[in-house]
Amino acid sequence: MLKGRHLIDPMDFSLDEFEEIFQLANQIIECPQEFSHLCQGKLLATLFYEPSTRTRFSFEAAMLRLGGSVLGFSEPNSSSVAKGESVADTIRTVACYADIAVMRHPKEGAPKVASIYSTIPVINAGDGGHHHPTQTLTDLLTIKSIKNSLENHVIGICGDLKFGRTVHSLIKALSRYKNNKFVLISPKELKIPEYIKKEILQKNNIDFIESETMEEVMDKIDILYMTRIQRERFFSEEEYLRLKDSYILDVDKMKKAKEDMIVLHPLPRVNEIAYEVDEDHRACYFDQAKYGMYVRMALIAKLLGVR
Ligand code: CP
Repeated sequence: MLKGRHLIDPMDFSLDEFEEIFQLANQIIECPQEFSHLCQGKLLATLFYEPSTRTRFSFEAAMLRLGGSVLGFSEPNSSSVAKGESVADTIRTVACYADIAVMRHPKEGAPKVASIYSTIPVINAGDGGHHHPTQTLTDLLTIKSIKNSLENHVIGICGDLKFGRTVHSLIKALSRYKNNKFVLISPKELKIPEYIKKEILQKNNIDFIESETMEEVMDKIDILYMTRIQRERFFSEEEYLRLKDSYILDVDKMKKAKEDMIVLHPLPRVNEIAYEVDEDHRACYFDQAKYGMYVRMALIAKLLGVR
C-alpha cells in the first residue's frame, strides 16, 4: 500500500511496489487521456532549494496532466526560507495547504527531516550528494521499457561517482535485481564512496570493476550511464577545471560499444556526451527524460491513493 507514504531513499519501496508504479506508468503511457482527471482537486507543492529543470518541470507537468494543481518555489529566497525558516516549519506550513510535497535540497537528509514533520507525503527530489529516488524510478522504467528487463545487465556508470546522487541511488536499486554487474568509470578523485562498495556491492556479492578509462571497458557494457562532473559539489574550482573533461563520449568511442548498448544520462549534460552522439540510435537520454514524467504521474497517483 503506497497511499500516504514518503519516498526519501530508493530502499523505501519494495520491488513489488516499484513494479506497481511501473505498471501504472505504462497504463498512463498507453492511454493518457484516461488519467487526465485523476488528481482533480489535489495540490502538489514543489519546494526546490536547488536549481532543476527536469525534476521540477516533470513533477509539475505530471500533476497538471493528472488534472491537479501545483504551487511552490524554485528559488527559496522568494519564500520565508530567506528569513531563516527551518525545513521542519516550512513543511508543516505547506502541509496545511497542499496534499503532497516534492523537495530538493543541497543538504543531505533535509527531505528526511521534512518527512518526519510532515502530515502529507514527501518525495525526495535530490538531497546533496546523497539520493535521488525519482531519478532512479525514471532510470528503471527506461531500462525496463527499452531492454525488457531489469536483470542480467552490465551497467557502466561513468563520471562523478563520488558526489553523484543519481549514481548512488541507481546502484542501490539495480543491486536488488538478479545478476546485474557494474563497471564503475571515474578518475581516482571521484571514485564511488567506500560505503556504497562495502554496504551494497560487496555485502550483496555484486560483481563490479573500477576503471579510469572508457576505452578499455566500452565493449563489455549493456547500459552506459553517463554523468556530469558537478561543479557545485567541488570545494576547489581548480580541481573542478582539472577534472571536468575527464570523459567525453563521442562517435569514436561509440564504435567500440555493443550494437544494442543504450546510453542514458540523468541530464543536464555539460561536455560529457558530444552532440553528435544524439543522432545514434543507442542514445536514449531524451526518452529517459520523458519516462521521468510518466513515472512521476504514477508515483503521485499512488502516494495520493487516487484511482
Ligand atoms: N536529472 C535531474 O535531476 O535533472 P534536473 O537537475 O534538471 O532536475
